[in-house]
This record gives sequence, structure tokens and C-alpha cells, in this order.
Amino acid sequence: MNQFNLADYLKQNRVLVESALERILGSFTRDLELTCAMTHSLMAGGKRVRPVLAMAAAEACGGDPLAALPACCAIEMIHTYSLIHDDLPAMDDDDLRRGLPTCHKKFSEATAILAGDGLLTQAFHVLAAADRLFECCPDAATRLTLVEKISEAAGVRGMVEGQMLDMQAETMAPSELGNKDQRLAHLKKIHRHKTGAMIRVSVEAGALGANASPPALSALITYAEAIGLAFQVMDDILNVEGDPEIMGKAAGSDALHDKMTFPAIIGLDESKAFGRELIEQAIDALDRQFDEKADPLRAIAHYIINRKR
Ligand code: IPE
Ligand code: IPE
Ligand code: MG
Ligand code: MG
Repeated sequence: MNQFNLADYLKQNRVLVESALERILGSFTRDLELTCAMTHSLMAGGKRVRPVLAMAAAEACGGDPLAALPACCAIEMIHTYSLIHDDLPAMDDDDLRRGLPTCHKKFSEATAILAGDGLLTQAFHVLAAADRLFECCPDAATRLTLVEKISEAAGVRGMVEGQMLDMQAETMAPSELGNKDQRLAHLKKIHRHKTGAMIRVSVEAGALGANASPPALSALITYAEAIGLAFQVMDDILNVEGDPEIMGKAAGSDALHDKMTFPAIIGLDESKAFGRELIEQAIDALDRQFDEKADPLRAIAHYIINRKR
């Protein structure tokens, strides 16, 4: 790897995304419980991996990363809503998220549900009204494509379906899901929907806003699918051996709930090897199409399997 400094890159782009998110939150009535709850979760200090991926993809395609900002904000708002709902007692019943009490612990279950609804709905307003909200944004036709792609990734054929499959797997005996290979195939399907779809659309959104050529877009999609799966494999590994203090969320909960995860099916070492293999595939896809303009994407791929949070 060359001299590219990922820590600085992540920091600079996080600052851009967070100031745009603050601007969006600032347009809602201050002190309303709903606004406070949305702000609590959205500004709690997520890693902002998806927005940074969108900006890095735009850069790899020779575009202006700032044009990706509306999609970055929409995606981070949708991602945060998914976490608020994921933590609810009816779902994973978690108390800690992004180092803070989960939204329903800090406020109430009803407020947390509505804060999630608010973030999801406003995300699409951000895309539709981006020409009024941002100095730089893709044209209206591209934004309509973004609405189509992002809603698809977040919705019934994407993240929401993944959450449903994840929940259903929890109540099934391993034997119902077949042998080891069948369980693994089903787990990959869950991960592809629950986490992969939003990661893939983040990369796609950055590329679309930068008018990526078809071969560039196709290489980026291969990259995104590989790192998306690696991201969730790593999340499963961290749930086993991560430090809750560093992660800002609970560890050990998957085993406690008998969840189907990569470590549960193939063990920790094989899960780590699989994560590394996916990252190699992702980098290979980039190397076939991109020069050093894709170095941020290369560095993010390595970061995904080396992260501690
Ligand atoms: C957590 O996502 C949920 C998963 C999809 C694994 P992140 O690990 O990106 O969480 P934040 O945004 O940094 O809090
Ligand atoms: C959360 O997945 C994924 C989404 C909210 C879409 P998990 O339940 O596995 O992630 P954590 O461990 O709570 O972050
Ligand atoms: Mg969950
Ligand atoms: Mg969870």
C-alpha cells in the first residue's frame, strides 16, 4: 500500500458528512422530542463507512465527492433508522449503540419508532430537495435514479427483507436450515440483504453521481458486494471477540441469542480467512479498472477487516 493516509481521509470526509447532517437536523423544530431523538442517534458518532464509501467511489470515477453528499446523508439517515429499529426490544433488544444508550432507552420505545420513521422519510426528502439543500448535487434525473436504487436497497428486496430473514433464522432450529453448506448459503443471503445492499448502493450512488462508465460501475459493484459481505462477517467476529468499550455496542449477544453467524457456522479462524479472501477479491476488481484514484477504496477495504469497531 502506498502513502495514502486513511485516518485523515476518514476524518475529513466524516466532518463534511456530519456538518451536512447537522444542517439537515437544524431545519427541524428544535427541542421537539422527535428532533432530539433523531439527533441523539444520528449524531452519536457512527463510523460513517457508507458515506465515505460513496465519496471515495465518486473520487475513483474522477467526479466531485461533494456531489455525493446528498446521497451520503440520505444513506446515513436510513442506516441510522435501521439501527434504531434493530435495537428495539421487539428486535435485538440492545441498550447501547454508538457508545450511547439506544434511542428507546434514552427516550421511549414509541419515540424511537417515530425517530426511525422520521429519519427514513426525511432521507428521501433530502434526495428530492437536494438542489435546494446542497451547493453541489447530481441533476434531477440522476437523483431520481438514486431514489430508485436507495429505496430498493433499503426496502423489501434489501435491508428490510434481510432483517426479516435474520429474525426468522433466530427462531429456527439449525436442522431446519439444512446442512452446513445450506446454512452458510442462507447466512450469505441474509447478510447480502441486511448489510450488503446498503453498502453496495453507497458505492453505486457515488459512482452514479460521478457519471461512471459501465465497466467502472461494474467493477465497483463487484468491489462493493465483496466488502459488504466482509463487513458483516467482521461484525459477527467482533460480536464474539470485540471490546464493547471500543465498539460502543454490546458484544456476546449473538451467542446469547443463538444467532446464525459466520463464527457459529465455520468458526472464528475460518471466518477471518473468509473475510481476507473477500477483501482480496474486492481489491482485484478495483485493480482491473482503476488507477491510484481508487486508493481510498482500497484502503477502506483493508480497514473493514482490520477495524476494532
Ligand atoms: C452496524 O453498522 C450494523 C451493521 C450493518 C453491521 P456500522 O458498523 O456501520 O455502525 P455505525 O454506523 O458505525 O454505528
Ligand atoms: C444490524 O445488524 C443490521 C441492520 C440494522 C440493518 P445486527 O443486529 O447484526 O448489527 P448490530 O450488531 O446490532 O450492530
Ligand atoms: Mg439485528
Ligand atoms: Mg442488532
